[in-house]
Amino acid sequence: MSMEQVNVNIGLLGCGTVGTSLLELIHEQREVISQRTGLVIDVAMVSVRDVSKSRTAPIDPTLFTDDPKQVVESADVDVVVEVMGGIDPSRELISKALELGKPVVTANKELLAAHGEELYALADQSGVDLLFEAAVAGGIPIIRPLRESLAGEPITRVMGIVNGTTNFILTKMTEEGMSFADALEEAQKLGYAESDPTADVGGHDAAAKAAIIASLAFGGRVNSDDVYVEGITEITPEDIEFAHRLGHCIKLLAIVEKQESNGAESLCVRVHPSMVPLTHPLANVQESFNAIFVEGDSVGELMFYGRGAGGPPTASAVLGDLIDASCNIKRSSAASIGDFTSINISPIADLETQYFFEVEVEDQPGVLAQVAAVLGEQNVSIQSMEQEGLESEARLIFITHKALESSFQAAIGALDKLKIVRNIGTVLRVIGID
Ligand code: NAP
Ligand code: HSE
Repeated sequence: MSMEQVNVNIGLLGCGTVGTSLLELIHEQREVISQRTGLVIDVAMVSVRDVSKSRTAPIDPTLFTDDPKQVVESADVDVVVEVMGGIDPSRELISKALELGKPVVTANKELLAAHGEELYALADQSGVDLLFEAAVAGGIPIIRPLRESLAGEPITRVMGIVNGTTNFILTKMTEEGMSFADALEEAQKLGYAESDPTADVGGHDAAAKAAIIASLAFGGRVNSDDVYVEGITEITPEDIEFAHRLGHCIKLLAIVEKQESNGAESLCVRVHPSMVPLTHPLANVQESFNAIFVEGDSVGELMFYGRGAGGPPTASAVLGDLIDASCNIKRSSAASIGDFTSINISPIADLETQYFFEVEVEDQPGVLAQVAAVLGEQNVSIQSMEQEGLESEARLIFITHKALESSFQAAIGALDKLKIVRNIGTVLRVIGID
């Protein structure tokens, strides 16, 4: 029996790194998609900021416009794909498309982490899809597993590397001794970074992804403002060397976990550089690869791994969504994301974890005892310590046992006031030992 053929015209908003790769992939896979699904995908219009730019995408140049509204409203467009990025005008354009009853596929984590709930509700009202697999971890299928396969799982923690640019930079600094600036420049050339790369290196891109993951995994309302964020801009080659000496590497992690805060259940959502033991699977996630661990009471541990950034992997995720949305047009159905409940977000001060820190002190008798006493007063217990002599001082490098963040920060504040302390160096949270 031959499959019914259905023509689907897409309107593409944006033709940069992801948009260009998507057009190439559609061009290459058009026949295969048609054979497998009966969908004949055509591109009806493409909006860009500057129509005079020379472009390599395999597409009729007359389809370009600098008016994205025209794309959304065109009667020839059945599905809107948004790969422009940013909040405005993407928010208005996606809202318009949904109001017009057109399914939308987007890779825009910044927008979803800030205004997701309003857009999901609009999609539900119109009975159409709003799909966003590419918004988190590039080519790795993580949104669909969280939305569908794990919908009934009592998830306890999701933790991972969700930003390709920063993982690329940290890998290059560690493996090749490359400078931060050179590694960032290479990540930009390879199409991994956001148009404003401070979103990557400052941790805000990972924070947007953490908010989306938190909402889906825990069914609660979590947006980017709920995420505690530290980026990697302060990490130095020396920090990386110390970490290695102690059997660790440094990774930017996004962590969403359930915890008890003042007797009530809450969610701690955070992004920060972390010391990861070299024996931990996350330590082997290199370059632009991402990896996400999902832990649940029934399923145990799952790990999702793959390329987290770059045109082709991201386009693969967008195309999967596009096919899904198009098949749903054929079936007159749509996947609802469901309702979100309000959820307590615990402050970072309530976190309990291990810490790495480095203190430069005067090299004289009794110094170690003074430092240990300050830590002890705040209930911070030392797991390991290394000392090295500098010219006229000593450097102490500590890893603590688990301690309360507020106590640890109080200890660091008190150490800073000691006369024998010349400088408090890098402070990092440590995962995976205790
Ligand atoms: P990009 O290379 O900067 O491309 C953006 C495209 O949108 C360009 O074609 C640009 O036009 C167009 N555009 C931007 N602002 C516009 C405006 N106001 N009006 C009309 N057109 C506008 O960005 P990208 O890397 O492809 O990323 C696109 C989206 O995918 C972002 O949301 C990003 O976070 C997400 N994403 C990216 C990756 C990745 O690895 N790159 C991975 C996952 C998700 P011009 O070409 O004329 O400048
Ligand atoms: N800039 C992002 C990253 C793109 O480096 O991970 C993928 O979302």
